[in-house]
This record gives sequence, structure tokens and C-alpha cells, in this order.
Amino acid sequence: MTATDPGIRKSPGITYQELLDTDTHPVPDVLRLESPRYLGSADVSINRFLTREWHELEKERLWGKVWQFACREENIPEPGDYIVYEICNKSYIVMRQSDGTIKSYVNACLHRGRLLKQYDGKCSEIRCAFHGFAWTNEGNLKDIPAGWDFEHVTPSEFGLPDVKVGTWAGFVFINPDARAQSFESFLGELPQHFERWDLENRYVQAHVAKKLNCNWKIAQEAFSEAYHVNATHPQIMNYLGDTNSQVDIWDTFSRVITPGGTPSPLLKHMVNEADIMRAMMDVRVDEELPVEIPDGKTAREVGASSARDRWRTIVGDKVDDWSDAEYLDAIDYTLFPNFHPWGAYNRIVYRFRPLGDNHRQSVMECFFLSPFVGERPAPAELHMLDFDEPWSSAVELSTLGKVFDQDVFNMERVQMGLDTTVKPGVTLANYQESKVRWFHVMLDEYLGV
Ligand code: FES
Ligand SMILES: [Fe+2]
Repeated sequence: MTATDPGIRKSPGITYQELLDTDTHPVPDVLRLESPRYLGSADVSINRFLTREWHELEKERLWGKVWQFACREENIPEPGDYIVYEICNKSYIVMRQSDGTIKSYVNACLHRGRLLKQYDGKCSEIRCAFHGFAWTNEGNLKDIPAGWDFEHVTPSEFGLPDVKVGTWAGFVFINPDARAQSFESFLGELPQHFERWDLENRYVQAHVAKKLNCNWKIAQEAFSEAYHVNATHPQIMNYLGDTNSQVDIWDTFSRVITPGGTPSPLLKHMVNEADIMRAMMDVRVDEELPVEIPDGKTAREVGASSARDRWRTIVGDKVDDWSDAEYLDAIDYTLFPNFHPWGAYNRIVYRFRPLGDNHRQSVMECFFLSPFVGERPAPAELHMLDFDEPWSSAVELSTLGKVFDQDVFNMERVQMGLDTTVKPGVTLANYQESKVRWFHVMLDEYLGV
């Protein structure tokens, strides 16, 4: 499909590609790609956000079959280091092996089924806390207390079942389905898109999660388009080209790029460069703007230039190879179903999951992946926010927390609105919300509905 397809109309005014033409630095090819896709205009059924039956289908046919982000490699740097990855009512151990590879085990004892591990940690063997069956870190049966009573157990057949593992850019993924397609083919061209952004050589500077009272897809979809900015985050419209966003759909991944340092086309009033800068820097009305915008310069140029200077101390002269777009724009990728790494130096990665086995509660996580000098700093500990703790209480997220709180403000109300509505489906914009639609098309395929 092309941009001239009947279902695709873009915002009047400057397009994202035209904005890139004004960049002070060469724009990388990856930002010049355009892949709009018209996936129809039909309403999307709402039972997917509401019913237990749908959740059970997702457990079996989505989470049981799909490649999913479990942890960063740096969470398990040494042999014997492991994390426990949970999705709905299932649990998996993801462990570094002595040869440096990573294995993932079904987290259940082969004796009477107890979880083998409940917390992240490090071990020299995997020993069950119930009766003491033990396996080596490689998953071979090592010990059965009072083994004389288990003559019927054949050690070679009593290895810990493992699941598929894939790694990319420092992220560790697992897939419980032994017949799943390879991780490389699932990723498709995604690694090429991220080549210059090198997320592997980053460290987890912040890791904050929050419990939410809504289905995980409602939470995720609040972060899958910029169309909501005008009503939900009006304070950032002065510097965010919300409806200038470019939406691209490939196969297993998609992206929305929303330009910064340029005002929303939806604003009715004139915005000058100082206004844009004030909004961008979150400067209060009664405070002086701490930077000057020289005559003939735009806030976008000045904002990118100061970001370049900030990063120079950490990444060196490489900063000069990067375009203004890479400093200022929200380059928000999504790998189906729930993994959202941002491109360039925005540093953000999101993940959304059901909270435990509850289809009406979810957990959203935000990681900051930052470049570093010298040795890789230890990854940040998880900072978990309960239902009543605002994102803005996580100071490590800086001003982002305030924006997230505005998103959360909608989520519970969407859940209850969908419970209440007499309309059987939600209606989506053809272009601006095409990433949301793409997700549901993919989900329907996985679920076979
Ligand atoms: S359940 Fe694990 S040793 Fe018995
Ligand atoms: Fe938002």
C-alpha cells in the first residue's frame, strides 16, 4: 500500500519527511523509509478488552506462542545468574550458562510441580525448596534425596524442560513454543533499523513499573499513537507535531515517529520559537528561558544543538553524525506484541503485560537505556509503583512521569467506558491509529479469531 491508498490521508501542512528536509545534519536512511499501510476501517471488537474468554485465548495462543522480551543481558551477566520471567500464570527461569549462552527453563519442579525459583538471583544448582530435587544449571538431573525410592525415574529423561531463547541488542527474549519460527525471522529487518542506535551498548539507567487498573492492551494503546496529545497532554502541543506523526507498518514491527521542536498543527494560535522552546524545556511561565534562540534559528535547531552538546561528554564526537531528528523526535517502535524500544537517544523502552493472571489489571514498565563511558554501570533495580503511586513520584523519570500520569488518568476510564458502552467496537483513525489497528490484526492472526 502507498500513501495514496484511499484509506490513508495525512495531516494538512508539513509532513514529517518535509520536516526532515530542514535538518541541519544528514538524516539517516532509516528515517527516510516510509511504509504506510491501510488495514481497513472496520471497528475493532471490544470483547478483547473485557472478557475472561479472550484473556484465556491470549494465554494459550499469544503468550504461549510468541517471542517475548524477558530481560536485558546485563541482568544476568555471570554464569548462574538468573531472572524469573512471569507472564499471566506461567513462569520461566532465564539463566546465564557457564559458556556464556543463555537458557530458559519452565519454572516447575518435575517431582510435584513446585515453582523452582520465585526471585531473581544466582545459584550453583537449581534445587527445589519442597523435597530437594536438584538440577545442574545446565538443566541435568543432579540429585534426588532418598533416590532409592525413585527407581522409576530415569535421570536422562528427567532434564529440566527448556524453552527457546533469542537475543538482540542486549535484550533477551523467550518463546515457550518449541515449534515457533526462529527469533531472527520473527525480528525481520528490525536489527537493521536499529544498527546506528546500538542499544546493545547501553545500560539500564532507570527501570520503573506501575500497576494499572485496566486491560494490558488499553494501557499499551495509550502509547501507540500521538493523536491523543491534543486532549490528554495539551501542555506539550507547543513543541510536539502530534498530527505530523509518520506511521509505518512492517510485518512484526511498526513505528510512530512524532517530531519534537515543532508545534502541533492543531493549535489555533501562533506559536513563536521561544514558546516552542519554553514548552520543550518545561519552563514555567514566570521563569526566564535559560537558552537564547539566535535570530534566524529555530527552536528545533537550538534544541538539537544543546542535546548534541549534552551527549558529547558521553558519546564523543559521534554526536555530530546524528541528525536533529534523532535528538528531538519520538521514534517509537513496537515489536509485536508488547515490546516498545525507541530509536536514537530518547532512551525509552516500554513493556506492557497483564498483571498476574488478571485481565483487568496490567503492569507498564519504562526502562531508560543510556549510553555510558568506561565500564558498564550496574542496571537499575526495578522501582515498582503501586496502583495509587503516581509515575511522577519516580524522580528517575524526570519530567516524563508527569506526562505518563496524564495517560494513566484515561486508562481506568477507558476500561469502565468499554464496560458501559452499547457500541460493540472501537473506531480507529485510518492513518494516525494504524499502529493500533496493526496490533489487532496481528493479535487476531495469533488467536485465530
Ligand atoms: S516438588 Fe520439587 S522436590 Fe518435590
Ligand atoms: Fe500520552
